[in-house]
Amino acid sequence: MSQRKSAVILGAQWGDEGKGKIVDVLSEKFSVVARYAGGHNAGHTVIIGGKKFVLQLIPCGVLRPECKGVIGNGVVLDPMAFLSEVKKLRDAGLPIDGQLFVSNRAQVILPYHRMIELAAENAPGRTKIGTTSRGIGPAYEDKMHRSGLRVVDLLNSALLRTHIENACHEKNTIAAALFGTAPLDPKAMYEEYARAAEQVAPFVTDTAVMLNEALRSGEKVMFEGAQGALLDIDHGTYPFVTSSSSTAGGAVTGTGVGPTSIGTVIGVTKAYVTRVGEGPFPTEIHDDSATLLRARGQEYGAVTGRPRRCGWLDLPLLRYSNMINGTEWLVVTKMDVMDECVEIPVCTGYRINGKLTDTIPADMRGYESIQPVYTKLPGWNATTEGITEFDKLPKRAQEYLQFLERESGAKIGMVSTGPDRSQTMTLPEFDAELKA
Ligand code: GDP
Ligand code: IMO
Ligand code: MG
Repeated sequence: MSQRKSAVILGAQWGDEGKGKIVDVLSEKFSVVARYAGGHNAGHTVIIGGKKFVLQLIPCGVLRPECKGVIGNGVVLDPMAFLSEVKKLRDAGLPIDGQLFVSNRAQVILPYHRMIELAAENAPGRTKIGTTSRGIGPAYEDKMHRSGLRVVDLLNSALLRTHIENACHEKNTIAAALFGTAPLDPKAMYEEYARAAEQVAPFVTDTAVMLNEALRSGEKVMFEGAQGALLDIDHGTYPFVTSSSSTAGGAVTGTGVGPTSIGTVIGVTKAYVTRVGEGPFPTEIHDDSATLLRARGQEYGAVTGRPRRCGWLDLPLLRYSNMINGTEWLVVTKMDVMDECVEIPVCTGYRINGKLTDTIPADMRGYESIQPVYTKLPGWNATTEGITEFDKLPKRAQEYLQFLERESGAKIGMVSTGPDRSQTMTLPEFDAELKA
């Protein structure tokens, strides 16, 4: 990436692909890591020498003291969640002051966002999305409605007071009328958030200026995606999506750099697929294999603890994800989780109403009638845990990866064989690019 000093790293499916681990490994080669979308609905797990960190809002790059972290304008920031994460890092001996920066243009999540979301999710007659209940959707609604509060406004106490008074009155009225919800107290809310604002203030800056200066001076910048391509508000399995642009385009609008600044796009995919929450999942399985994957992969949500739905690798979905993101490199995680699978079905196409296709349908009825077409690959039935060289993988594991690469249309750059930072292999061509 000598000519190309930046990379977007994102989830190729419905989130939890292992982005956190991979961002942590790669951040050694980058000066800045910037989050561009979502909020504390994300849960990015990093394990370093057995020590576990789960980051929700703060980019995983900050776990390396020499790497700066940026929370971009595309993120929705819950000040309380932010401050509690900052405290957790400080308590773990990571003094992130001077290392972490928050965009003055990021939107703020306030308690009435969570109130509205919880009430709406549980209201009769509504389509339940199975959200993380963090107020993400309602905060993005306010942003698009042009009635949100930005971080820069959070720091202006007069503006904050008026905003909370007006917005709280409006949201209380809506929530009471639609859902019978008890009102929130705007005075207490203002006092709590004014105090929080003082603690957030030292982190706040114009991060777009900072990122563009970094790029201009030749520093390497990584854009850390949250969620996954199929949870993207435009390109995902709508309405069972999150409310932000989690795909590569979001890195541009969510941080304030131009599209010409993006050097490459790295998609992280599990060797199989998982999903949390409601919505279509063509290759979902419910048999013993699902139990095996969930147990071996510890497939429980990092944020909500919910069991993740498990299924086989879906190549039409991965090709679609690669297409909308312009993915050049793939990172395949959790190979070790499949070590005990006797046979591994991989979905190579869909049959929809008798017709063979590999196009993702736009409407839910299309998803409901998908019958996945599988190619069965033999399992390798040997341990891959901790292997860091491709040639040392069992032959059938190598063949599985080669099949995935051939069929997905993107090059495999890295393979992960365990949750720890050290349990990772970087393939030669990708390694050469990183070093360039
Ligand atoms: P993210 O949201 O994409 O960062 O992913 P999560 O952290 O929510 O979920 C991924 C889970 O898989 C975490 O518990 C990681 O520690 C774990 N993990 C990542 N890579 C591997 C791997 O190669 N093998 C195994 N067994 N676990 C992994
Ligand atoms: P990371 O970054 C997996 C899912 C929720 C729900 C839908 C909408 O850790 O991969 P929201 O609270 O965003 O309005 O919920 O999106 N979801 C995730 N699933 N990983 C995530 O983040 C997710 N963030 C949101 O489960 O189905
Ligand atoms: Mg996660």
